[in-house]
Parts: sequence; C-alpha cells; structure tokens
Amino acid sequence: MFDATTRTLVVVGAQWGDEGKGKLVDVLAEKADWVVRYQGGANAGHTVHIGNKSRVLHQIPSGILHEGVRCAIGNGVVMDPETLFHEIDKLVADGIDVEGRLYVSERAHLVMAYHKLVDKASASSKAIGTTGRGIGPAYEDKVARRGVRVLDLRSPDRLRELVTAGVARANWSLERSGSSERASVDDTIAALNTLAPRLLGIAEDVGLCVHRAIKSGAAVLLEGAQGSLLDIDHGTYPYVTSSNTTVGGAATGVGISPMCIQYALGVVKAYTTRVGNGPLPTELDEPLQSEVRALGNEFGATTGRARRCGWFDGVVVRYAARVNGLTGLAVTKLDVLDTLEQLAICTGYRVDGELHVEFPADVGMLERAEPVYEWFEGWQRPTQDVRQLEDLPSAARAYLDRIEALCETPIAFVSVGTRRDQIIGGHAGV
Ligand code: GDP
Ligand code: IMO
Ligand code: MG
Repeated sequence: MFDATTRTLVVVGAQWGDEGKGKLVDVLAEKADWVVRYQGGANAGHTVHIGNKSRVLHQIPSGILHEGVRCAIGNGVVMDPETLFHEIDKLVADGIDVEGRLYVSERAHLVMAYHKLVDKASASSKAIGTTGRGIGPAYEDKVARRGVRVLDLRSPDRLRELVTAGVARANWSLERSGSSERASVDDTIAALNTLAPRLLGIAEDVGLCVHRAIKSGAAVLLEGAQGSLLDIDHGTYPYVTSSNTTVGGAATGVGISPMCIQYALGVVKAYTTRVGNGPLPTELDEPLQSEVRALGNEFGATTGRARRCGWFDGVVVRYAARVNGLTGLAVTKLDVLDTLEQLAICTGYRVDGELHVEFPADVGMLERAEPVYEWFEGWQRPTQDVRQLEDLPSAARAYLDRIEALCETPIAFVSVGTRRDQIIGGHAGV
C-alpha cells in the first residue's frame, strides 16, 4: 500500500465503527514509520490478533505493536490520561517497548474523571447509548473553549482555575441527572498531578513531528476511530459520536494539510453492525441477527455490548466513499458469511413510497426506511485460508464485485479472519 508515491495514508471506518480498523492498521503498519490517531478517545476499541493473542487498543495507535514504529496521539483526540497509562503499562508488562516512540500532542484535550461521571449519568448519553468514556462532555468543553489541554499541566494556577469551573459544572449536571456522584476539585487535581510528569514527558508538538516526518519521506498512517456514520457532521445525528471521524478530521486532528493525504482506505465489514442506539436500516430479524452476531463474535471491544447486525448497506458505504473520497475499500469478516445460504445487499431505501439511493440526512426518514435488497447465493465454503482473490468461491467474488460497483470504489483488501496473515490483497483493485 505504501509505495514510492503513496507515503501518507488514512484508514477510516466507513460504517458505524468496529469495521476492523485495528486489524488493517496492524497489517499496514508493517511498512509504516508513524501511526497517528486523530480523533475520538478511549471510546475506540481496536482489536489486533497476533499469534494466539488478541489485544484491544483504546487510545494508543495500533501501530505500537510493530517494533520501531513511532506512534502519536494527535490534537484532535480527547485523551484520558488514566486509561492511557494503564494501556502503556499493560503493553510494557507484555514486553512491548513503548518508551521513546509514543507521543501525545500538547494541544490534545484531556478527558477528566468528571467528564466520565457526567457521561455515565446523563439522560442524553443514555438515549444515544454512549460508551460512557466521557467523550461527549470533553468535546463539549473543547468547543465551548473551556477545556483542559495537555499543555495546561505545565501551569498549576491555570489548571486549578479550569478544573474548579469544570467540577462546578459537572456537579451541577450530576445533580440535575439525579446522580449521587460528585466530583472534587482537590481529588481531580491530585490525580492529574500524579500523572503530569509522565504525560508531560511524552508531550510534543505532534503536528510539527508529523510534518517533518512527511517532509523527510516517511510512511505515515493516520488511524481513524469510530466510523463515518458516527461522524458529528455526516453521521446519523444525533446518534453519533462527538468528533469528525471522516478523512477531513484526519488533517485537522493531526495538524497537517489535507493535501498531504494521498490514500484513504475505507474499512467495511462484509455486512453491517452498530453498537448503541440510532437507525440501522438493514438490521436483521431474529433468529438470523443472533446467528450472525454469534458467527462474527459481535460484542463490543470497549463495552462488551452486543452489536446489532444487518445486511451490507450499499447506500451507507457509497455515501461514506463520497464523503471521505475513499481511494480503496478493505472488506473485512467475509469468512463470517461462509455458512449462510443466501445474502442480501441493500441498494436503496423506500421512504414514504419514494426510492432513495443517496443517504438521507434526516434520522426520521432513516427510521422509516425500508431497504431495497438484491439477493445473492451464499458460497457455503470456508474462506479463511484463501490468500488470492481468484481462489475465493465464485459466489463470494460476485458478492464483492457488487459491493465494489455499488460503492464506486475498488476493493484493495479482503480480510478472511482475525489474524494478521488472513488477508487478501494490498493493491488497489486486487
Ligand atoms: P475496529 O474498532 O474497527 O478496530 O474493530 P474491532 O476491533 O472493534 O472489531 C472488529 C472485530 O472483528 C475484532 O474482534 C477483530 O478481531 C475481528 N475481525 C477483524 N477482521 C476480521 C475478519 O476478517 N474475520 C473475522 N472473523 N474477524 C475479524
Ligand atoms: P471503534 O473505534 C462502535 C458509538 C457508541 C454510541 C455513539 C456515541 O472501536 O470503531 P460516544 O461514547 O462516542 O459518545 O458514543 O458512538 N461508538 C462506537 N461504536 N465503535 C466505536 O469505536 C465507537 N465509539 C463510539 O456506541 O452509539
Ligand atoms: Mg472497535
């Protein structure tokens, strides 16, 4: 994927998250010099399966598992220092050397303990089905220009001022939510002061580091979190996360020019999942939904919640391809469909008697949408050991060809298992 001309590449989820971004980043990071997260926070759960061990990364870029790859957390991320050091310590305990190759933007906003309390208690978070990681409240403070950034840890007076105001607001919100939890200024500051020396030790001007890396010809991979349909602007608002998950967010969230990004890889499952509330037009009926959930082990990597499962939605991915300007698709979890007798791909929605082939902005319309399906024969053969596109059963190839045509984007990878080696492709239009 990285070659003489493609040096900066972004990996984005093109559905509702959990598409297998962690696996693709891990595969691509083999040839990367830098892997950088640009938005979201510990709401992400990116699974990487190496040998017999499966690991879930929440804030640290998945590239950390490749020795020598430098990793960074960009300014667009809302960073939870407690979770970060917990993750770092776990990696180090497993013999993975993190020191000297993980950086955090000094401009990144901090997720405070009180953001998590508010996220867990608020009725609006419950209605959306958030991960409870404090993401929405932290981005709210950022946009309201009262957030705490990594660099504020260098200024004790300013830190106390910001935290005092933050705690007051949080306690007011907790009281309104009927929660008995309360945050404390002194406890919050004490916890931050304990982590500050470690955090400031890895704080950097990440935009400048990545800019210099790009200028020197390094291979730079930008790792998206969540998915395009959870984007604050382009997703199924208000059932979204609070950041720009799409390719545009990669440039602002790292601090580089959008003109630097040469390839956008959209990761999609061969079907659809969503965790949390909000419309999912192709959601399967029971008992098929539970069957697909069991086949795909569709339980959240962050919260353990059961993921809702649906047929592949061509309207969604076509939209994601447009909004992100996808160069290529990585279709994951094809193997999960191996035993099904027949499969469907959604090509449009019928809403109030009218056919829509472009994704509607109105969540009410999406809730009323009746999917229009094309049906495909199942291949009913194992695909996990296939490594060449031409060795896939012809029914599987027909299914993938239709996805490619509908989304008007070449398939660059097909993933047929959780492991690193269970992958087909590496060139656009394999
Ligand atoms: P991410 O958030 O996009 O990184 O995705 P998650 O890690 O949350 O969820 C994807 C899940 O699917 C993980 O458990 C992966 O190990 C698994 N997975 C990824 N690719 C494949 C695949 O091709 N086949 C199968 N069976 N599982 C896969
Ligand atoms: P990765 O990176 C799937 C969902 C939540 C909820 C909504 C808002 O692993 O793909 P938030 O906590 O962000 O305020 O929750 O977004 N959500 C995800 N769904 N994968 C994720 O991350 C997600 N991160 C958030 O379930 O519906
Ligand atoms: Mg995930």
